[in-house]
Amino acid sequence: MGLLDGRVCIVTGAGQGLGRSVSLEMAVEGAITVLIERNAEAAQRVCDEIGAADGRAVRYSLDVTDYDAYAEAVAGVVQEFGRIDVLVNNAAINPKPATILTDTLEDWRRTIAVNLEAVYMGSKLVAPHMAKQNSGRIIHIASIQGFASSGDVGSYNAAKGGILAYTKSMAVELGRYNILVNSVAPGFMVTPMSVINGVDETTTPDFVDWYITRRKIPLGRSGLPEDVSGTVVFLASDYCRYMTGQLLVVDGGLMSTF
Ligand SMILES: NC(=O)c1ccc[n+]([C@@H]2O[C@H](COP(=O)([O-])OP(=O)(O)OC[C@H]3O[C@@H](n4cnc5c(N)ncnc54)[C@H](O)[C@@H]3O)[C@@H](O)[C@H]2O)c1
Repeated sequence: MGLLDGRVCIVTGAGQGLGRSVSLEMAVEGAITVLIERNAEAAQRVCDEIGAADGRAVRYSLDVTDYDAYAEAVAGVVQEFGRIDVLVNNAAINPKPATILTDTLEDWRRTIAVNLEAVYMGSKLVAPHMAKQNSGRIIHIASIQGFASSGDVGSYNAAKGGILAYTKSMAVELGRYNILVNSVAPGFMVTPMSVINGVDETTTPDFVDWYITRRKIPLGRSGLPEDVSGTVVFLASDYCRYMTGQLLVVDGGLMSTF
């Protein structure tokens, strides 16, 4: 028996990094995993990995900011599987490092569109189906950047902070339908997103000195996607049934020190 046997679980941004890891782990736990990803080849690779491990996965290639395409995909999932049990709002982008003095309105809008508005859109599309079933889980991937700032990604901070507030609102709005809404805030994770201008920010001498050697991260290492995906599976499973509107921080202890 898996923790998610037969559950239909949608994961956005499932082609690499945390989304890939969550998809693989959900499939191992018996879920029918639905990958929503703008990069079709990457999504297919993850589908193949899941298939090779005797799991079930389907993919939809779309940009989560395209509401009509997203709606069509959700309708397709309901038609094929008859229900939607879990949505993991994971897809996000990292804006070019800049401050309010140097960023552009265009970059701000794109980050908010992908990292916040698409979270609303996906949730809006699945919630009516979950309400009809009187059950569902919506899990947002936020970030520690939702409540503390590195000082050069304001639109990302604003989007992730918005997710934290919206988690509370959605939990209150949807509780009567037995839909649980929670967030996970990873700290530094080693994924393709951590590569900025060709440099993996978790390997620079300054990063290693401050976060690892001097233990700003008390556990003394950056996170891997696999360190975070189990928390997402927990929130999707029956082990989590009386918790909603909450944030779980998975950061190796980073936010516990100063
Ligand atoms: N990497 C980190 O250090 C870190 C830290 C904290 C939080 N997070 C959060 O974790 C989540 C996953 O991050 P990651 O590091 O795995 O990122 P990543 O960049 O490695 O992967 C993101 C995936 O989302 C897809 N995607 C991006 N925009 C999309 C769109 N508009 N439509 C459809 N798919 C889209 C990309 O193609 C990619 O496959 C994100 O919400 C991110 O903000 C990451």
